[in-house]
Amino acid sequence: MDLNIKTNEKNHLEIGGVDAVEIAKEFGTPTYVIDEDRIRDNYKRFYSAFSKYYPDFKVFYACKANTNIAVLKILEEEGSCIDAVSPGEVYISKKLGFTGNRILFTGNNIKDSELKEVSDAGVILNIDSVSALKRLAKLINPENVKISFRVNPMVGAGHHDHCITGGVMSKFGIMDSEAVEVYKLAKELGFNPVGMHSHIGSGILDPEPFKLAIESTMDIAGKVHKEAGIEFEFLDFGGGIGIPYTPDEKLLDLDKFAEENMKLFKAKLKEYDMAEPTLYLEPGRYLVGDAAVLLTEVNSIKQSYRKFIGIDAGFNTLLRPAMYDSYHHMVIANKMDEEDVEEVDVAGNVCESGDLFARDRPLPKVEEGDILAILNAGAYSFTMASNYNTRPLPKEVLISNKKAIVVRKEQSYDDIFQKQTMPEHLK
Ligand code: LLP
Repeated sequence: MDLNIKTNEKNHLEIGGVDAVEIAKEFGTPTYVIDEDRIRDNYKRFYSAFSKYYPDFKVFYACKANTNIAVLKILEEEGSCIDAVSPGEVYISKKLGFTGNRILFTGNNIKDSELKEVSDAGVILNIDSVSALKRLAKLINPENVKISFRVNPMVGAGHHDHCITGGVMSKFGIMDSEAVEVYKLAKELGFNPVGMHSHIGSGILDPEPFKLAIESTMDIAGKVHKEAGIEFEFLDFGGGIGIPYTPDEKLLDLDKFAEENMKLFKAKLKEYDMAEPTLYLEPGRYLVGDAAVLLTEVNSIKQSYRKFIGIDAGFNTLLRPAMYDSYHHMVIANKMDEEDVEEVDVAGNVCESGDLFARDRPLPKVEEGDILAILNAGAYSFTMASNYNTRPLPKEVLISNKKAIVVRKEQSYDDIFQKQTMPEHLK
């Protein structure tokens, strides 16, 4: 099994060398627990796999996956750059020490004030539409900004329809057929476009679509190089590499993946007679997905028409199962040695029928008070949490050098309501 699960001598789940049951006792539940070493290991593995075959390589962490400031700082220390999709992500990355050229902004449907804000921040702008290009030209001096374009490579893949970002149904990128004209237009408007970007989707464990996307993006880049006279400083193939969520799924063989894709990439550079640009990739899930666990407590067990294991988190805490029907593996942190004996439904505490973490999930004999750990909760987990049902956002704890440190306090009720104001006539 390729899932990141460790058990200690007490038969408890262990996270970064610390007993998960002890963490739950000390900090309460629900709590996200992040393993610093795992993030560092994931980064190093990813960076070395590609730089081995193509040394002029930079990782742009897609920080939408997890914006805890400790996580961002760990990746900053490792040497990562940032893929940001909103002015807020640019703001926090700059504040934590990522300089402008270490941040690539890939917005979509961006309004003028935001375009201005991110270009003033000095980051690289990855433009998603002709509309944004024309509006940007009126807002700033085109000479002062480094730009690239996101193209639709007409290849899409992903673990769910919502997570496929290439192809005719996708809202992202400019069309392949318009690419040459768009780069020419950018030059006419006074810009110096230096990059091209594509991203096909998220949660992909099959290497094939990535190869197809590199091929098609390189064909577009080659054409733009020849016909619009663009010398690319960088080419960016986005993120999307999946991680195993189920016990049957296998980790991608990253070394083989990098070797094959870099071979293809270099062959295409040669085919189109292009100088070697810097390669950018934008992993999100791969770097942080398996580096956190959501610890919850079993509050109530109900035998209705089905057996429900009720926990103290809901889709307000972790949305992926409700939103994408995503599988998240679960273990009983205090019963790691026990065999699965029954199939149960694991339900959250939100007042909606869709608030389920699993149906018919094989688990050991579960009792109230058990600590149920939801794995692979490092990516798109806290960042997609909400205050629905007026429940506070939970705590986050970082495990560093076998010590548990609170890196986000739980919200208070007042935190939830603090930005609301009572109109005079209702006071
Ligand atoms: N680059 C761009 C332009 C992206 O849009 C994304 C993800 C990434 C990189 C990183 O993709 P990753 O390596 O993490 O797969 N909420 C969904 C995932 C949405 C991903 C959105 N874009 C989920 O929970 O599965």
